[in-house]
Amino acid sequence: MGERVEIFEVGPRDGLQNEKREIAVAEKVALVDCLSKAGFNRIEVASFVSPKWVPQMAGSADVLAGIKRADGVRYGALTPNMQGYEDALAAKADEIAVFASASEGFSKANINATIEESIDRFVPILEAARHIDLPVRGYVSCVTDCPFDGPTPPEKVAEVADRLFSVGCYEVSLGDTIGQGTPDTIAHMLLAVRERVPTTRLAGHFHDTNGRAIDNIDAALALGVRVFDSAVGGLGGCPYAPGAAGNVATEAVVAHLERLGYQTGLDLAVIEEAAQTARAMRSQ
Ligand code: HMG
Ligand code: MG
Repeated sequence: MGERVEIFEVGPRDGLQNEKREIAVAEKVALVDCLSKAGFNRIEVASFVSPKWVPQMAGSADVLAGIKRADGVRYGALTPNMQGYEDALAAKADEIAVFASASEGFSKANINATIEESIDRFVPILEAARHIDLPVRGYVSCVTDCPFDGPTPPEKVAEVADRLFSVGCYEVSLGDTIGQGTPDTIAHMLLAVRERVPTTRLAGHFHDTNGRAIDNIDAALALGVRVFDSAVGGLGGCPYAPGAAGNVATEAVVAHLERLGYQTGLDLAVIEEAAQTARAMRSQ
């Protein structure tokens, strides 16, 4: 039996947050309900951010209320501040995620805060979540390159990842937000991060702007990372990162991992069905 690699599905959040047309809650619910049958442990389905900043995520509470929750699946939501945390709690998210950047330019553009200010905002969220045993994931964006500041020093990524881990994030997902990473820059970044955060607590979150996400996953696998974020149908991007194309497609990652002999526990036929739904949502 091959070694296990977990895929964290982010399509309904990272994917749909960037679609230009308004997507009805019922369409989002249908996509999540399909994904719920694929065997994921975790699916990110919502984002309690300011609707002025990301109008596409405005119906997040309705999505969480509308989905059929499958046993054993945790449905996650982004929470940039206490207001987002309270909304996520009211909507019964099973886990939440705070998101920081390794570059100041993107931090300002994405959440209107410096890196330091953003972590100060996350501390009360993590404290509140700890009291009720709500798992909190942490994201670090721009782990190799920033659309505003250029290349990101690996030590800076390590520092921010360490901060998120130290304040209580159970896992830190490392985002190549604009898909400019190469196997080489990803490996350098990971070698620095591994000095500060156990590899078993890291995830790779690679956008596929330059078609290199699968090669970057291979580089991360070689350094021991065993959790990867992806979006069904290759949906996605980030509205505050010019040039951020879709996340790497879940169906491509699963097929690739299985070719390499890893076990994902996922049903590729169901994922293909969800990918078709996702692609149809995208092309309308
Ligand atoms: P701000 O303008 O500095 O904050 O935004 P504010 O406190 O002045 O609030 C502005 C307005 O938003 C106020 O409303 C607040 O009430 C409201 P007004 O008084 O003007 O009517 N507001 C909220 N409404 C709903 N939910 C909330 C909330 N907070 C404030 N939680 C803020 C700061 C953080 C809110 C804003 O910058 C924001 O929402 N940013 C989110 C941007 C975003 O979602 N980006 C995409 C996700 S990150 C990503 O995709 C990267 C990732 O995939 C990893 C990778 O690829 O690298 C994770
Ligand atoms: Mg992303």
